Amino acid sequence: MKTRVLMVCLGNICRSPLAEGILKSKVDPNKVFVDSAGTGSWHIGSEPDRRSIATAKRYGLDITDQRGRQFSEDDFEDFDHIFAMDNSNFRDIMSMAKTDEDRQKVHLILEEIFPSENVDVPDPYHGGEQGFENVYQMLDEACEEIARKLNNGTL
Ligand code: 4NP
Repeated sequence: MKTRVLMVCLGNICRSPLAEGILKSKVDPNKVFVDSAGTGSWHIGSEPDRRSIATAKRYGLDITDQRGRQFSEDDFEDFDHIFAMDNSNFRDIMSMAKTDEDRQKVHLILEEIFPSENVDVPDPYHGGEQGFENVYQMLDEACEEIARKLNNGTL
């Protein structure tokens, strides 16, 4: 059985598509399935933001085949680990959880590199290109740690 990991942000066009692409590049696809979703519905069916696509491309990652989808209650059944990009996403996901088992699956992604500091991956949507680079660097570090834990069985 593959371990199933879901990356969640608000729109599923900027941050979580990058997180999905980055983590996929660091794990064995035969062992780990990675997907992403947004808590909002605006970008269902959309490609990632062109700035996320360009940022990923600079690091050799192609995320153009991703399409936006909305997070749903079924995702608690379908995934083992759910990583929220920020505190607002975290609250929205938690508000849909029904059981303690559901709630235990949900983590703030930057807790992986800044434990107990409650740090958000900032939403880069209304900013410039630098915001996307900044998001990439944070997610690359966090995904490195997630991949390390997946590999040694501690996640
Ligand atoms: P994301 O960024 O949550 O990182 O995908 C956003 C993209 C679009 C919107 C908000 C955040 N929006 O309001 O359309």
